Amino acid sequence: MYLMATYRIEGGAPLSGTIRASGAKNAATKQIVAALLTDEEVVLHNVPRIGDVAITADVCRALGAEVEWSGESSVRVRAANLRTVDVPVAFSGLNRIPVLLFGPLLHRHGRASVPLVGGDDIGARPIDFHVDNLRRLGATVELEGATWRAQARRLKGTLIDLPYPSVGATESVLLASCLAEGRTVIRNAAVEPEIVDLILLLQKMGALIAVEVDRTIVVEGVGRLRGAEHRILADRIEVASFAAAAVATDGDIFIEGAEQGAIMAFLNALRRVGGEFDVRADGIRFYRGGELTAVALETDVHPGFATDWQQPFVVLLTQAAGLSVIHETVYERRFGYTAELRRMGATIEIYNTCLGAKACRYRFGDHPHSALIQGPTPLRGTGMQIPDLRAGFSYLIAALVARGPSLVDGAHYVERGYSSIPEKITRLGGRCELV
Ligand code: EPU
Repeated sequence: MYLMATYRIEGGAPLSGTIRASGAKNAATKQIVAALLTDEEVVLHNVPRIGDVAITADVCRALGAEVEWSGESSVRVRAANLRTVDVPVAFSGLNRIPVLLFGPLLHRHGRASVPLVGGDDIGARPIDFHVDNLRRLGATVELEGATWRAQARRLKGTLIDLPYPSVGATESVLLASCLAEGRTVIRNAAVEPEIVDLILLLQKMGALIAVEVDRTIVVEGVGRLRGAEHRILADRIEVASFAAAAVATDGDIFIEGAEQGAIMAFLNALRRVGGEFDVRADGIRFYRGGELTAVALETDVHPGFATDWQQPFVVLLTQAAGLSVIHETVYERRFGYTAELRRMGATIEIYNTCLGAKACRYRFGDHPHSALIQGPTPLRGTGMQIPDLRAGFSYLIAALVARGPSLVDGAHYVERGYSSIPEKITRLGGRCELV
């Protein structure tokens, strides 16, 4: 892990060659937490070596679980005895994982305390759904100062109707309900591939969970869960980020382990812009199919175009001819990073209005959640300060496209979610080093 480091990038070289996709950050962290639902050993393979996994492992260790790396990418978790139900305040604000610990801790010890969670500054990101759902499952949950405290003798199955298909809220209900008494029905659930992967692990551990049509998930509570072994799916955000980088730099890359099913909406958007891809048995090749042209798209929950693909795609669109339109419907302020792109020469304007047809929660109020991008614009290398994880990778792409050197400060944001970035970029012929 690199703290307070800066990437030095010399742009202008097309990316070409082969890299291997890492395991998904947003699956690995949740599955380490799921391992706390049993006192037996859970072995996870294809775990990425990233900051968020390290933080999650440390939280679980602080509670008394053994979490050990074995080999390059396997992690063994054994929570035979948990020595405390209080997540230390030191983990407040580092990421959003602690809020998922309520379910496992309530099942193991009937009590849990969790400090306020943080995460990137891309919207308000409340945890009201999580708290409401735990209460519906029978827990008392109160905020005391900066700590959430929950208690329950045994959680009881219930009907949960999510106001929005939140990834984290769906996961926290899954983790809280698979050992609850009776049946839990989650309506309007999120069905991201990482959630399905979590369900696969829980099924191996002995849970009874059905994913039905129309975003309904039905959980039949069981008496106990056991140990299991699971290989985590490839990181569809890392895949899309590198694919956007390859097409933006007019390169040609192959990503081993990339899975088509998890990125269908991205592939459609990429093809509409003028990117091309060949899906092979062991991965996907990405390259330019012709001139890049502007598109209009809206982010959405899965199976829509993921909000975490938005930032790399915006950089790609600065290289596409015409006026592109992006309507961000998942977070209310996820375009702050575009100011730095404008300094590099991009023409991007941000609007509070909905520039799209999807029903959006940010229709009213002051939410800068739509963008117009006029391309193509050459980009100039410069000094940049990374504000958050996905914006950080998009700055790397912009620096790789740009003429001249760039110093991109805040590598720790990127290292939270992407593993071995300078190594991967260098392997693809890009000039990137940590200084
Ligand atoms: N929301 C609420 N109340 C809640 C929970 C969510 O209003 O109690 C709102 C959020 O404010 C947001 C929307 O619902 O506007 C979606 O949030 P969601 O709960 O789905 O997001 P999350 O679980 O906090 C995960 C990923 C994010 C990814 C989103 C959407 C993890 C650790 N994070 O966040 O990933 O953008 O789902 O797919 O899984 C990233 O990896 O860089 C990242 C930000």
